[in-house]
Amino acid sequence: MDLFEKLTARAKANKQRIVLPEGNEPRTLTAADNILADGIAEIILIGDPVEIKELAAELKLNHIDKAKIINPADEKVIDKYAPLLLQLRKKKGMTEEESRLTAANPLYLGCLMVKSGDADGQVAGARNTTGNVLRAAFQVIKTMPGIEVVSGAFIMLLPEGLPFGTDGILVFADCAVVPDPTAPQLGQIAVAAAKTAHDIAQIEPRVALLSYSTKGSAEGPAVDKVIEALAVAKALDPNLIIDGELQTDAAIVPSVANMKAPNSPLSGRANVLVFPNLEVGNIAYKLVQRLGKVQAVGPVLQGLAAPVNDLSRGCFPEDIYKTIIITCNQAIGMKE
Ligand code: ACO
Repeated sequence: MDLFEKLTARAKANKQRIVLPEGNEPRTLTAADNILADGIAEIILIGDPVEIKELAAELKLNHIDKAKIINPADEKVIDKYAPLLLQLRKKKGMTEEESRLTAANPLYLGCLMVKSGDADGQVAGARNTTGNVLRAAFQVIKTMPGIEVVSGAFIMLLPEGLPFGTDGILVFADCAVVPDPTAPQLGQIAVAAAKTAHDIAQIEPRVALLSYSTKGSAEGPAVDKVIEALAVAKALDPNLIIDGELQTDAAIVPSVANMKAPNSPLSGRANVLVFPNLEVGNIAYKLVQRLGKVQAVGPVLQGLAAPVNDLSRGCFPEDIYKTIIITCNQAIGMKE
């Protein structure tokens, strides 16, 4: 069974309610139809019901009648969810009128449904920018206990025969969100990435905090940041198998680890690689993906109190389908 077969089976066995704020977006609607046809999740579409049904007929989709449709123009819907938004944002100066207007924004409405317990996760971004998808999630859903920063991981599925990671899988973070994390934020990203590795990549995490230095071989503020992040991560999760600061070869090649970091608990067998900042993380995942013919699944947003995932605006229905499956598994993992 490959990773997606495992994740699909787990989602089907414990159906989650996934809200799709871009309910009238053709690729999103097609993915929703496929998810419903395959019995993977319950789907909540946000949008004008008439428009959604017309689009479904046009696209010849046969399962959309199984979805729940929430109309953001319905005053009763806004009456239900705006008070929660006002409560969450009052301190930031939001007025009642603003809360009603913002609650009618499907990205916020979906997050409000998740926050209220009326949905288990949200997937959006086929039409909206990353910033807009993330901001609604940051403001409404907020972070999980112990974590103050949301970040984005990629699950890297290596071609057969490469002796890295576990079962050909590595998790990379943060490759998507936090431009220049502080040391405490980097430590939190490491802990969140370990959870992604466990819940989604289904591997036992062995986390390396990467640097240009291995165990004092070089010095500088960037090295100090990684060393401090290691202490933060260990304090957050004392049972985590984690080490740093390590160069990549000392993290993933046992013979190099033996020379450069003989006492490392990772022994050169790290499967979660945490990059010191977004510049490195984003460039690294794209290089590995292209040069190594590696499949990069994600970004999987991690650190939120309930799962929300962002899509690329160039995505295909298949990408949305897979992101819904990942979101279901995050929701299941969080409940466990
Ligand atoms: N985690 C948790 N909360 C956050 C985070 C975070 N990482 N970043 C911002 N917030 C919160 C803030 O505290 C603030 O909360 P408040 O309103 O309650 O005070 C709110 O979110 C908005 O904060 P801003 O500083 O206004 O954040 P902004 O909206 O400007 O930026 C964003 C957030 C869009 C995610 C920014 O960090 C960003 O652009 N990151 C890079 C994204 C990117 O382009 N990635 C590369 C492409 S993705 C890819 O290649 C796969």
